[in-house]
Amino acid sequence: MSNQQFDVIVIGAGPGGYIAAIRAAQLGQKVACIDEWKNDQGGPAPGGTCTNVGCIPSKALLQSSEHFEHASKHFGEHGIAVSGLKMDVAQMVARKAAVVKQNNDGILYLFKKNKVSFFHGRGSFVRAVDGGYEIAVKGAKDETLVGRQIIVATGSSARALPGVPFDEEQVLSNDGALRIAAVPKRLGLIGSGVIGLEMGSVWRRVGAEVTVLEALPTFLGAVDEQIAKEARKAFDKQGLKIELGVKVGEVKVGKKGVSVAWTDAKGAAQELVVDKLIVSIGRVPNTTGLNAEAVGLKLDERGAVVVDDDCRTNLPGVWAVGDVVRGPMLAHKAEEEGVAVAERIAGQHGHVDFNLIPWVIYTSPEIAWVGKTEQQLKAEGAKYKAGSFPFMANGRARALGDTTGLVKFLADAATDEILGVHIVGPMASELIAEACVAMAFRASSEDIARICHAHPSLGESMKEAALAVDKRTLNF
Ligand code: FAD
Ligand code: NAI
Repeated sequence: MSNQQFDVIVIGAGPGGYIAAIRAAQLGQKVACIDEWKNDQGGPAPGGTCTNVGCIPSKALLQSSEHFEHASKHFGEHGIAVSGLKMDVAQMVARKAAVVKQNNDGILYLFKKNKVSFFHGRGSFVRAVDGGYEIAVKGAKDETLVGRQIIVATGSSARALPGVPFDEEQVLSNDGALRIAAVPKRLGLIGSGVIGLEMGSVWRRVGAEVTVLEALPTFLGAVDEQIAKEARKAFDKQGLKIELGVKVGEVKVGKKGVSVAWTDAKGAAQELVVDKLIVSIGRVPNTTGLNAEAVGLKLDERGAVVVDDDCRTNLPGVWAVGDVVRGPMLAHKAEEEGVAVAERIAGQHGHVDFNLIPWVIYTSPEIAWVGKTEQQLKAEGAKYKAGSFPFMANGRARALGDTTGLVKFLADAATDEILGVHIVGPMASELIAEACVAMAFRASSEDIARICHAHPSLGESMKEAALAVDKRTLNF
């Protein structure tokens, strides 16, 4: 047993933890980062949910399945004939695994480059000691470390339906959903949130009959209504079956599949029988393995670490970031908090603007937004102007053959400051960055309208939507 001293110990190497570790090391701290994730060979796989069973693998599968959909449905209009097209799911999943590994290896390289000491195993609090905390690492080799400052970045895990544990064969969390070995004929999803829509899209594109059961009566309630409506139209057209206002009852797992008893919005009893069921009803913070009680670290009723706006916990020198604390469960939010905490520890003034965290749903069409929705502004009684521009009127979108959707700007009625930008359509994930920059600089819609955007580009739709706020679009 060693007893090594560090300035900063980070528990968890997801996007919150590994980025915090690197930033702290850049600022001259002696840093350790502990993570327990194992790859299929039992070796370390830093990167957390995001890299192993989240952002990265889901985007790899979305890309592969989109290529398949293009080849099967859209190549013809470009004059490209394809015969004998078939989907090799094993290859798609193997490619995804290779992309994940590149990211795991990249993080190990970054730890070396920045002189972060990496420990593979479970980290837990032992006790408070003079000037810090003792942290046990249980892994291939047990160690005890002492850190002056501790950053908890232990992330989150999929929430199961009560009484229906994940077997990852028929009842799948995000982990199993990303490892399906052959296209299921019938796929069910509980929850039409972000995972429900992204995973439902992947498996629909490659041939599964997909049904999504959602408890809430409105589709994508947190999204701007106009954008959600447009997205719903597109998903319906694609054949993604979404049932809203559903009450899920008994789930039975048998040899012939999974049967889900449910009540529809009108109160009628229904049954869904599927080969596989993905349960995507939100996530729970990972704090069970931390031994938080040993040091009196305060958790809330959901098990999340309680923090203030600056990610300080109730204990001096203990911080927490990412999915394990309040706020949206997004990789870039975790990263921003990780950087800000590392800078605060070094005496700097790290800052996260929670109003400017963009959201992206990587379906086709993509959905992306930042700032306030129209319904939020109405609820606040804010005076605002709205302007939108359809991709149908954008030359680049026509050339791409992808004209679904629109860009919508919301601006203050008096000052013209941009309050929210909402996009449904091609490359929304990339276009939203312009809105984030503009809003960070407190730009007005006129500022965007006066900036030269390259032609032909999807970005021109941003300029046109900004012009639409002043009712002077040029191409619509
Ligand atoms: P995590 O990434 O969960 O990392 C925590 C790490 O800590 C894990 O490696 C875990 O093993 C480790 N750990 C936990 N407890 C201990 C312990 N006691 N000791 C040692 N190690 C421990 N977000 C986006 O922004 N964009 C996306 O496109 C996106 N797609 C997603 C797709 C899916 C299917 C899922 C499930 C999530 C997706 N997310 C996405 C959300 C994103 O993955 C999370 O918000 C992000 O990973 C949170 O980062 P984190 O560092 O807080 O935690
Ligand atoms: P979610 O919160 O996005 O959606 C869960 C959905 O399940 C909600 O619509 C909810 O009303 C519904 N629901 C809850 N209980 C239900 C029940 N018993 N029956 C039917 N429906 C029920 O959660 P999801 O999809 O599990 O994803 C978790 C988180 O991971 C997301 O909130 C997001 O933070 C992150 N994520 C981000 C992605 C991105 O940024 N592109 C992609 C995937 C996940």
